[in-house]
Amino acid sequence: MQITLKKKIVLGVTGGIAAYKAAELLRLLIKAGAEVRVVMTPAACEFVQPLTFQALSGHRVYTDIFDGEAESAMDHIELARWADLMVVAPASADFIAKMRQGYGDNLLLTLCLAEKKSIAIAPAMNQQMYANLATQENLKVLAERGTLIWGPNAGEQACGDVGLGRMLEAEAVLRLINIHFQPGKLTGKRVLITAGPTRESIDPVRYISNHSSGKMGYALAQAARQAGADVTLVSGPVNLAAPPGVQRISVESAVEMFDAVMGYVDVSDIFIACAAVADYRVAQQSQQKIKKTSDQMVLSLTPNPDIVSAVTGVDEPPFTLGFAAETENLEQYAADKLSRKKLDMIAANRVGNSETGFGTDSNEILLLWAGGKQLLPLAGKPEIARQLIDILADRYAEIN
Ligand code: PMT
Repeated sequence: MQITLKKKIVLGVTGGIAAYKAAELLRLLIKAGAEVRVVMTPAACEFVQPLTFQALSGHRVYTDIFDGEAESAMDHIELARWADLMVVAPASADFIAKMRQGYGDNLLLTLCLAEKKSIAIAPAMNQQMYANLATQENLKVLAERGTLIWGPNAGEQACGDVGLGRMLEAEAVLRLINIHFQPGKLTGKRVLITAGPTRESIDPVRYISNHSSGKMGYALAQAARQAGADVTLVSGPVNLAAPPGVQRISVESAVEMFDAVMGYVDVSDIFIACAAVADYRVAQQSQQKIKKTSDQMVLSLTPNPDIVSAVTGVDEPPFTLGFAAETENLEQYAADKLSRKKLDMIAANRVGNSETGFGTDSNEILLLWAGGKQLLPLAGKPEIARQLIDILADRYAEIN
């Protein structure tokens, strides 16, 4: 598809082997009709010469915070105001850490501080560096502040490692820039999402729960919001902040989640059931702490309401996507849930391993619907969420 992009873009390039991809991105942006100014960090200049970007953009490249000539042409505050969007690609681990802290010790960082419109970053680094808790926390904080995080991809890396950390290809970044400027596919739609685990109390100090971190559901909430939807997130207990612009309703148990969801079904166009809802709760919750009296303890459990089935069972159900968390027979079990729970779509999610499912930062999803399926290959949960919302929006538009 030929993309036309009559926009002003600041392309930030940081130091990393993926800096060469920025040259290709610049070429594609210029071809699409965008006006681009390139800002490079000193480390980026070690990987690619500024002259390359100057030749491709037709403009001088900004590299030095103390460059009087460049400042007199367009100072860094003016450059930040000029841009419709700032894209940092590749964004190194070091740059991401400094951006999170609010450093301004190079020109690109000062621009990030001065930029009032959107900033998108395309992380690129070694897979261990990406997985490091410090990097993950930095990305989480930036996402919570509204920075768009595009990628990374999984695959073979320049250093020979394999894993998450490769920068998205230039074409993919161009597509995301284009989508950013389109009216969102879900503009005006009300999306209800469940996320996280539920907790089923045994007594005042103990509960039954599962390993859901909420990362997948929260990423979906953010992606739906970025697609223009009005998002309500019904969340079990997790350690995550609500994405910007998303209304969160916090619940503990499956029954509380059921009540919250049913209160919003009538006003929702789309329902996404990503929560790991406990199938059973303790039949008789003790009001007092249960004392250890013998070597064995038997708990009697009673079924919880099936929230997603209750939603698809109402007279005019919203378009509903359920999840199927499976350790085996993924497609078969998911297809069974698709029809048994009367869903419009289902996201089959392999669980019980270190790369996909519960608690992981990455995921792989097989999307199924009547007469169709699509694999979303291994990628970070925000990336999977963006792809999933994009496909869901197309299916929703086809049916409605
Ligand atoms: O939170 P993360 O750590 O990021 O992990 C994400 C995830 C693995 C939890 C998520 O991607 C996922 O797979 N969620 C569904 C988990 C689950 O409970 O699957 P299930 O196959 O048991 O349930 C099928 C569907 O019925 C799900 O949409 C579930 O939300 C729904 N359900 C289940 C039981 C119940 N009582 N009510 C429900 O609505």
